[in-house]
Amino acid sequence: MKETSIFTQAVHGGERAPRPDFRPVPTPIYRSSSFVYDSLQDLDDVFSGSKVGYVYARYGNPTVHAFEMAVAALEGAEDAVAYSSGMAAVYAALMAAGVRADRPVVCAADVYGATYALLAKTLAELGIATRFVDITNLAEVDAAIKEAQPTAVLCEAISNPLMKVADIPRLGEIAHRNGAQLLVDATFATPYLLRSLYCGADFAIHSATKYLAGHGDVLAGVVAASNERAALMREQLKVFGANLGPEEAWLALRGIKTLPLRMREQCANAQKVADWLTSQPQVARVNYPGLPEHPQYSLAASLFGGAGYGAMLSFDMQGGTREAVFGFMQRLRLIQPATTLGDVYSLVLYPAMSSHRALGPELRAELGIGEGLVRMSVGIEAVDDIIADLQQALAAS
Ligand SMILES: Cc1ncc(COP(=O)(O)O)c(C=O)c1O
Repeated sequence: MKETSIFTQAVHGGERAPRPDFRPVPTPIYRSSSFVYDSLQDLDDVFSGSKVGYVYARYGNPTVHAFEMAVAALEGAEDAVAYSSGMAAVYAALMAAGVRADRPVVCAADVYGATYALLAKTLAELGIATRFVDITNLAEVDAAIKEAQPTAVLCEAISNPLMKVADIPRLGEIAHRNGAQLLVDATFATPYLLRSLYCGADFAIHSATKYLAGHGDVLAGVVAASNERAALMREQLKVFGANLGPEEAWLALRGIKTLPLRMREQCANAQKVADWLTSQPQVARVNYPGLPEHPQYSLAASLFGGAGYGAMLSFDMQGGTREAVFGFMQRLRLIQPATTLGDVYSLVLYPAMSSHRALGPELRAELGIGEGLVRMSVGIEAVDDIIADLQQALAAS
């Protein structure tokens, strides 16, 4: 073949070098939108599914798959499917569970604001109805499921922002008895505290943006489920395309390596912070499943098997005003007032301003999300430093 031009050399030079006979220890970032094979028959076999491989990034990517395998291992699941965000994962699980206009959803009233909005607005506009229930009232849940005949029952293992704990084994029984599937958003619990699928859930959903990745530098979501459900999710993902990118998957995969270490420290820190907050005069009420006065304390103890009670808590400031909350949050020096959770850093958030803003004041009040409620994600810093920061910020309240 005649020597190629510099234009061609610039494009192809260096590519398709001999295959290495070594493997990097950590999975590398496969930053490629497509994959080629020596034989077109191989490509055809990968397309048909008779050969394992990758053809196009929306169908799968090796780095993303490594992250999915890690999550499946942590959840004790047959498979897991990654998404570009936690909300994409929530949406994907609902779609795979078969929500349609004639198959509604029963959902916990206390859930992340965007999940609430997805159901109460976006899906409602498509004719998919949702019945919101107090997920801790099993008689109410049972009655709602019998009446609505949903295809999906959705709840958070530990709820955002009130830290209600869902009785997943009982909810699984009730859902299955009525032909529904149970979808558990286990973002706050993580597989360190709870393996939702072992407890009776059909889909375990995570915003991997939070504890799984853990360092505040990535947006990601993932759903763990059976092979059959995951295959359906992959087929659906191919056409709706909310794929996780390889860089994000790599960061999340790296984050997972320290998930148990971080969670062990964060749960221990959160318990101490919650205990301390209960005795502060500026604090009217603390929501934390590890406090004996929490309504689901013993359920949490048995569900989480003594591993801890999570690292999320919320508390109502005395007076319950936005001014009191703003003043407190602005005085914090170490703890960051950031709109996220589950990072190594301690974080506070004002649900009325951010996570549950879209609900509006009336609905928030109805759900028990007061104007004085502060949500806190306890990090891995020394707990004495976290408490000292809270103390100085509360002192001026
Ligand atoms: C419980 C829960 N589920 C889902 C989400 C959505 O995750 P993402 O922000 O990654 O889309 C969040 C976000 O805060 C959350 O708290």
